Amino acid sequence: MEKFIIREYQSSDYHAVFEIWQACELTLGLSDTFQELERVRLLHPNLFLVLENGKEIIGTVMGSFDGRRGYVHHLAVLPEHRQNGCGTLLMRELEKRYEKMGAVKIHLFVEKRNQAVVAYYEKRQWQVRNDLIMMSKNIKEG
Ligand SMILES: CC(C)(COP(=O)(O)OP(=O)(O)OC[C@H]1O[C@@H](n2cnc3c(N)ncnc32)[C@H](O)[C@@H]1OP(=O)(O)O)[C@@H](O)C(=O)NCCC(=O)NCCS
Repeated sequence: MEKFIIREYQSSDYHAVFEIWQACELTLGLSDTFQELERVRLLHPNLFLVLENGKEIIGTVMGSFDGRRGYVHHLAVLPEHRQNGCGTLLMRELEKRYEKMGAVKIHLFVEKRNQAVVAYYEKRQWQVRNDLIMMSKNIKEG
């Protein structure tokens, strides 16, 4: 059985991590440059996690905490390594870390084009919120 190791993201992981996100067809943009991820890493080194299989990084999840709510971004496992519990391991570890930090509630966003992943989260006790409308504003153009 494969042995998985979860550890915190380091700057030198950037290219491997970015390639995983591309392979997983995540929507990537201005917030996914090396510099932006450095900021995330420095703010919350304990919440930005990668999963290795002994050879290479095969999965990621990036958390953040604003002091009140936690947020989960970029849960991704390389297609050839899916259905093996890696996504669940990453989410369990992240949730444990939020619990330790005293977070009461954590949020995540699913793009409508990625509807299929909703069932995945629902099986893991996440609830779809029909009482909220998400709104965003671009501060930086690009
Ligand atoms: C969502 C995602 C991270 C799940 O990753 P994963 O590693 O396949 O997740 P898991 O292996 O933990 O769970 C997947 C399924 O495999 C099953 N599974 C887990 N361990 C298993 C094992 N050892 N053997 C066989 N099946 C297993 C789980 O039961 C689960 O099925 P279920 O959802 O019907 O319960 C992955 O599909 C992905 O990267 N998707 C693209 C990116 C994406 O959409 N991210 C979310 C953005 S909001």
